[in-house]
Amino acid sequence: MCGIVGILGSQPVAPLMLDALRRLEYRGYDSAGIATLEDGELMRQRAPGKLNNLQGVLASRPLAGTTGIGHTRWATHGAPTENNAHPHAAKGVAVVHNGIIENFRELREELEQAGCDFETETDTEVIVQMISCELADGKSPVDAVKATLKRLDGAFALGIIFSGEQDLMIGARRGSPLAVGHGEAEMFLGSDAVALAPFTNKVTFLDEGDWVVLTRKSVHIFDENGAPVKRPVRFTKATAYMADKGNHRHFMAKEIAEQPEVIGHTLGEYIDMGEKRVKLPDLPFNFAGLSRLTITACGTAYYAGLAAKYWFEQVARLPVDIDIASEFRYREAPLAEGGLSVVISQSGETADTLAALRYCAEQGQHTLGIVNVQDSSIARDCDAIMPTYAGPEIGVASTKAFTCQLTVLACLALAAARDRNTITAERERELVSALLKVPRQIADMLRHEDDLKRIAKKLTDATDVLFLGRGINYPIALEGALKLKEISYIHAEGYAAGELKHGPIALIDKDVRVIVIAPHDALYEKTVSNMEEVAARGAKIVLLTDEINGNGNGSGTFEQFRVPKANAFVNPILYAVPVQLLAYHAAVFMGTDIDQPRNLAKSVTVE
Ligand code: M6R
Repeated sequence: MCGIVGILGSQPVAPLMLDALRRLEYRGYDSAGIATLEDGELMRQRAPGKLNNLQGVLASRPLAGTTGIGHTRWATHGAPTENNAHPHAAKGVAVVHNGIIENFRELREELEQAGCDFETETDTEVIVQMISCELADGKSPVDAVKATLKRLDGAFALGIIFSGEQDLMIGARRGSPLAVGHGEAEMFLGSDAVALAPFTNKVTFLDEGDWVVLTRKSVHIFDENGAPVKRPVRFTKATAYMADKGNHRHFMAKEIAEQPEVIGHTLGEYIDMGEKRVKLPDLPFNFAGLSRLTITACGTAYYAGLAAKYWFEQVARLPVDIDIASEFRYREAPLAEGGLSVVISQSGETADTLAALRYCAEQGQHTLGIVNVQDSSIARDCDAIMPTYAGPEIGVASTKAFTCQLTVLACLALAAARDRNTITAERERELVSALLKVPRQIADMLRHEDDLKRIAKKLTDATDVLFLGRGINYPIALEGALKLKEISYIHAEGYAAGELKHGPIALIDKDVRVIVIAPHDALYEKTVSNMEEVAARGAKIVLLTDEINGNGNGSGTFEQFRVPKANAFVNPILYAVPVQLLAYHAAVFMGTDIDQPRNLAKSVTVE
């Protein structure tokens, strides 16, 4: 899940590529590099760490040339060192690569036996060495790449340039996204349309298995069998706008604060405000005849799906099978032809979710994508999409995309209930009214952020933090734990409160903090009993609830935070916010890199 860019330009390309790589840094930030052709000769600059390091290197040793490729890396094979940074080069060729070459070990052995010396630990270098060997055998650049592509197994997107070939760039896509940008006597390659947005809005998304030969004035696309193919040129809505943090210290803080607005916007798209009823776009399927619904996603998006399972089952009486995409894609789940699969993804590029979607389509299912990036691979591959209107999410920790996913799923569940006659118009209006109050209720909570900041400080000396929830709030416990561990690096786990006594309670001692999510819903008393059990064993409890009182909330509470009282239907959306803020402020106290935490990337385009 690296980011790649390539330019056949009319002016020096290194500064332009640096700018494009900044837009791609969400895909990885372990190292970065650029290669250009200076008077036909391949030149490279690379640096470990974030893009600023490469910028520093380029400031002291600039690269000239109007042809170039660039890369920002999320390390898969080989440590994030300068040596392992892309572009990789051998005699006559330089390559940037996003993805994994699964058969690289056998290819490397073969090449080493043939006398090739490898300089790096990466899988990518086998591509470079193979193309270089083919060139040495007298093949043209196009034939050398064609022969090499045939030998590669795995998922990849590639950008390739050749010494002495100022007007040639080759791209290839298998599994990982790649787009061609069409300019005026200029041509571009990029991992997504956002990277290309400053240069052009005319974009061709390559299909699975495609490879492309570019000059400044021509685009020739071939399918995996080498047959010439035409792919449409689209006018993308991606903008060159680079999000800024406004008055906030981090993108994550800004994105948390934006939730009242973006949830309101999302509701505006799916609710008829006059009627107070759900209004969905025309969808090529109906819920009435469905016997089951399948949901797949990864990470935070998966937790949104898990909450939706409660909505679909309770309100629409529709059984839901939900799985993590990386498991689902290999599980060979039997799916009924004509059924419905929903995939959820902020980026729309998550490799496992995309593969799960393709599996569902192959089984003859209708597919619906809940995506934030409307130009993404998942959005394009689904039969229909329901966008989340969260706007660009830059912080690696997903926040506003999550609450917007929940919002869309809540509306979808209501629409399903209506199709299936499991809800009256009156009840639908009641639940829609509850949804419409959410933006204001979140705004109210944000005004008490300082209370959560104070509580968050008390999490930072814990050995472990457990998040407990029941029913529809159990997924929020899981999400709270994921948020805390990914940005503060404090060990955290989410549990269904009733499950604690089946094992995890053994962890409890005075150094463990327990965050209990306990709105006054039908399961409140049971959750409080579970809370008492951990209190009795010395844990320090932080209670998130909607009515604070001196004696009704159980004993042993260390800290409490009041969430606005709401219809239980919308509680997952509301309780997501305090767990986000606890994680955020704990991470601020820990001094971590909040928007780009270690080892992570915003978009996970490798499996
Ligand atoms: O772009 P996606 O929604 O498909 O991403 C899925 C996960 O990678 C993502 O939610 C991840 O878990 C986040 N870092 C969580 O904050």
